Amino acid sequence: MGDGSARARPRVFVARVIPDEGLALIRGACDADVWKDELPPPRDELLRRIAGCDGVLTLLTDRVDDEFLDAAGPRLRVVSNYAVGFDNIDVAACARRGVAVGNTPGVLTETTADLAWALLMAAARRVAEGDRYVRTGRWKTWGPLLLLGPDVHGATIGIVGFGRIGQAMARRAQGFGMRILYHDLNELPDDITLPLGAAYLPLAELLVESDFVSVHVNLSPATRHLINATTLSQMKSTAILVNTSRGPVVDQRALAGALRDGVIAAAALDVTDPEPIPMDDPLVGLDNCLIVPHIASASRATRGKMAAMAAANLVAGVRGEPLPTPVGAPT
Ligand code: DGY
Repeated sequence: MGDGSARARPRVFVARVIPDEGLALIRGACDADVWKDELPPPRDELLRRIAGCDGVLTLLTDRVDDEFLDAAGPRLRVVSNYAVGFDNIDVAACARRGVAVGNTPGVLTETTADLAWALLMAAARRVAEGDRYVRTGRWKTWGPLLLLGPDVHGATIGIVGFGRIGQAMARRAQGFGMRILYHDLNELPDDITLPLGAAYLPLAELLVESDFVSVHVNLSPATRHLINATTLSQMKSTAILVNTSRGPVVDQRALAGALRDGVIAAAALDVTDPEPIPMDDPLVGLDNCLIVPHIASASRATRGKMAAMAAANLVAGVRGEPLPTPVGAPT
């Protein structure tokens, strides 16, 4: 929308230092105030710094809502999220005020699936537990029963959410000769599922059948606590849950109970609710729960591409041009 008065160089706030692939473009086109701390700007500081900005580059840790939009004021034209997920943004509130919203789809698909696969393998073959075992001086000999886990090859994987990342996960599973099941809002067309050898099942049936369940849904009211005490109880007692989507998709209290009571065998999480996970959360004390700090897209190349995309959205937005990757657009 904007208040109409043109500036020689648009003013933007960048809510964290991002890779140079993006910062250089932003600095070349805008007067950029870049938040340099490792931690996100505190809310009051964020609201203060965005006042009068033409554009803001946000991270998934920055909530964009009416309060944010009020604080930014009428000049704001674009919010560019440095992430593919945008559950931190009230997109409808932005639309009401004519503020464009961009995200970074596509470039992190394979990198995220790599990490999901690493988590699956590590949980199955107890890699983190093995490492702790060695470092705490417990390794005495080769043991026939030491740290046994399930085979990954030939097992059944259930992929919940069969978008870009879910499908990339299926491609990895093909290489391991796995039976591939998927669940999504609707069955996908054969031209997508047949080459992947993926069969649709209703969620409850997928959970019953799968040795590994990997979650790749967006966070929405419909998917909050999709994995809960009931759905966990539908899984095999030997099953392993992998979550690289968003923390609130899993009811963590229910998961801790399920892991403690042997309802399922193990879990591997890239995302938690909240983030960071409090050190007194029951999951932190469980050996059969592997947790990493939301790093699924954290390869140098991918973070650089995300930065370039987020910067391109920001710069286009402040110029009043269409965003290269607006939220919700097909890619
Ligand atoms: C995203 O992009 O949504 C990831 O969670 C962080 O890269």
